[in-house]
Amino acid sequence: MRAPPVAPATDDPVVAQLDELRREAESCEKCALAGTRTRVVFGEGDPHSDLMIVGEAPGYHEDQQGRPFVGQAGKLLDQLLATIGLTREQVYIANVLKSRPPNNRDPKPEEIEACQPYLLRQVELIAPRVVVTLGNFATKLLSGSQTGITRVHGIAQRTSIGGRDLHLFPVFHPAAALYTPAMLDTLKQDFLRLPEVLGLPLDGRDAGHAAPPADAAPPADITPPSADQSPSADATPPGDTTPPTGPAPSPPLTGGPAEQLGLF
Ligand code: URA
Repeated sequence: MRAPPVAPATDDPVVAQLDELRREAESCEKCALAGTRTRVVFGEGDPHSDLMIVGEAPGYHEDQQGRPFVGQAGKLLDQLLATIGLTREQVYIANVLKSRPPNNRDPKPEEIEACQPYLLRQVELIAPRVVVTLGNFATKLLSGSQTGITRVHGIAQRTSIGGRDLHLFPVFHPAAALYTPAMLDTLKQDFLRLPEVLGLPLDGRDAGHAAPPADAAPPADITPPSADQSPSADATPPGDTTPPTGPAPSPPLTGGPAEQLGLF
């Protein structure tokens, strides 16, 4: 009889502890979403990144693939990261909920409460300098305030999460921005301020080192989608969406995958 596959051993204690936490989440039954999810979407990216991005909950594509932000909102997130010279592999991406709410309904308070320890432990282990919260659910949970995203977006808040001193930087959720041109424009402007937020001082820590290089390509233009081009929830992504590698400028936000989807 063959032994079950075991994750390769690692010398990195952060990776090892995140793996253990992932396994715990994958068998979690603390809320009813355990009965409806296809896959747990734990999170992914660089476990030592200075930048962590926290969304709301997996959608259809995320639930199918077990990876965060792989649908249309994810394409937009990738493009926003590209405007500041970063790729998704250079940051860590997670959600408030690790399981998809049926029909993408809003997370329920009891689901947030049940899932919250996973996110707090992720922040504790990854110890980012900056946590970008996407939309109301992540922002309210991690700021501990009921003030909505419309009032707090684009304003860095010094706080402590999971025992880690960091800057919280709320922005609009990309899924909402896909439908609202003015919101998309604001989201783009807020993202462009992230390098500055990554450079803000924190007690007992050196200046940020994961900020994109000063010579990163200038931001490309984002054209808001027109109202009648709103994406359908299950539009099929185009085949190859990999941005060019090497020192080439960031992929433009026009002419990219989102435009092929009719988003720009
Ligand atoms: N929206 C989210 O908040 N998270 C995802 O992973 C995908 C879409």
